Amino acid sequence: MLDLVTAPVLALISDRLALPPAELARLLGPPAKGVLADLAFPCFQPAKAKGVPPPKLAAELAEAVNQAGLAQATAAGPFLNLVFPAEQVAAALIPALSADPTLALRSRAGAGKTACIDFSSPNIAKHLAFHHIRSTMIGNSLARIYGAAGWKVVRINFLGDWGTAFGRLISGWTREGLTLTQLEAATDRVTFLNELYVRASQAAKADPALEEDARRWSKKLEDGDAEARHLWQIFKDASLAEFKRVYALLGVDFDSWKGEAHYEDKMAPVLAELEGKSLTSIDQGATVVDLAAHGLKQFKKPMLLKRADGGTLYATRDLAAADDRFREFTYDRSLYVVDLGQSLHFQEWFAAAKLLGRPYADRLRHIGFGIVLMWNDEPGEGLEPGWARGRTRGGKIMLLREVLEEGVDRARAIVAEKNPEIVGDEREAIARAVGVGAVVFNDVKNARTNDVKFKFEEALRFDGETGPYIQFSHARLCSIERKFADLYPQAEAGDPRLLARDDEKAVLLAIARLQGQLERAVEADEPSIVAQALLGLAGAVSTWLTAGGREPTARVLCDDIRFAAARLQLVRIARGAIGEGLRLLGLIPPERM
Ligand code: ARG
Repeated sequence: MLDLVTAPVLALISDRLALPPAELARLLGPPAKGVLADLAFPCFQPAKAKGVPPPKLAAELAEAVNQAGLAQATAAGPFLNLVFPAEQVAAALIPALSADPTLALRSRAGAGKTACIDFSSPNIAKHLAFHHIRSTMIGNSLARIYGAAGWKVVRINFLGDWGTAFGRLISGWTREGLTLTQLEAATDRVTFLNELYVRASQAAKADPALEEDARRWSKKLEDGDAEARHLWQIFKDASLAEFKRVYALLGVDFDSWKGEAHYEDKMAPVLAELEGKSLTSIDQGATVVDLAAHGLKQFKKPMLLKRADGGTLYATRDLAAADDRFREFTYDRSLYVVDLGQSLHFQEWFAAAKLLGRPYADRLRHIGFGIVLMWNDEPGEGLEPGWARGRTRGGKIMLLREVLEEGVDRARAIVAEKNPEIVGDEREAIARAVGVGAVVFNDVKNARTNDVKFKFEEALRFDGETGPYIQFSHARLCSIERKFADLYPQAEAGDPRLLARDDEKAVLLAIARLQGQLERAVEADEPSIVAQALLGLAGAVSTWLTAGGREPTARVLCDDIRFAAARLQLVRIARGAIGEGLRLLGLIPPERM
């Protein structure tokens, strides 16, 4: 999109250096801090290729660009700084964007390619805790960002519906003689199961016989025992119903819900193949792949495939699932959005896939992320308030649903105070968009491998690096559009060349940069690149609209209809781009707030 502005300059440089414009376009970037220019072209690479000192090349190019009148160019050391006339920027970009401003956040970079994205993937019979926001919303925004960049995306929820936890649950259930009626009578069925799990785990810790009983049930479940299967299905149904409520609140959905259990009968062939290729060995009765023995010295311990009692393990299921997904989708990339704590697991089985010679082995990516810390204002007696790992309110685990609901309650109060004329269903819809959006944005705005701090008061601020700040920018632009329609109902499309102000140019350039930022977000699997770009765009919009408060002639809704109509086009484009950016991150852009 930016090339609509830079094409003439790039063509000139390309002529002089005999390098393709596309290659030069990749070098163009923001100017150094404190430099008042639209873009900077670093001359290091092309100067090296030509065998001249970079500052000399920068000076030569500056002269040529100025002479051709394509931009205002200055050489600053090895950099060629470029300033484009605002009218020229507007004339180049407005026609392309006014028909569909969401084009600012579209790319064909991924056309023809498929990405599987495994995200959220919670364990059933447990609640979605607050920390699940990370995988769920990083994965959700990656799915949308990839989609916007032209990829075909398969959204996969690899439910943790298998494993020793179920043996333990069934063991506890039968030992306590619980019934379906009791489970159904519980106010919250997941809490009921969760408490059962905690009791069963504690009991098993104290009594090895119970631990053994849990193991036995686990095995029975794997062997297809009818009673075990029946109970398992009950646990799974109860959990899914609860998860789907939270996903609905977040606006998240999936194309596939094939969980770990689905791969139960698809692991034997993988194990047989590993054995056939002599990749396995036996370690204290368990079947393992000794990765170090196969030349991968970085692995200190062998990777577990099968327990001594025959029960299969997490890594084996992931391998079977990767095969299955490749068979079905022939993915070009397969992402696993899972916390950094599981890095070793992914390194291990990715390595095993490579040892097996899987064609997709280099297409697997672990998208790791840091932990989330929540401000704990009621840590319990004798403790100081502070940052805590998902625990707050007297040591109780914060559930994701509870955090979202509290966000909505707080947002409702803020909206009621700021804008009392918004009432009823509309107030409710805005409270949801803003309350949930605040929590979500706080999570996706940070580089994903960083730990995230969450505090309601901060996340909900209307002025700051928050979701509500960007949502407010969107609503403010919508309100200008509504007023314009009242004021100038007959207005015709404005002339872009009347957008001659620097603050207008800054908004347009921020929009034109989004496409490159979207592509970079895909390459780095980093939604925060889009989030930060939107903060920048909302900032540019705010600077522009605030100028109108001081200079009446700078106002969008100024007295001169020609200027008003031209500016309205920019308002519409900015609103469309911000709205689309918010949607890509999983937020809803409100029209009023
Ligand atoms: N259920 C796992 C957990 O909660 C996460 C699964 C991640 N996805 C995967 N393919 N391993 O820890």
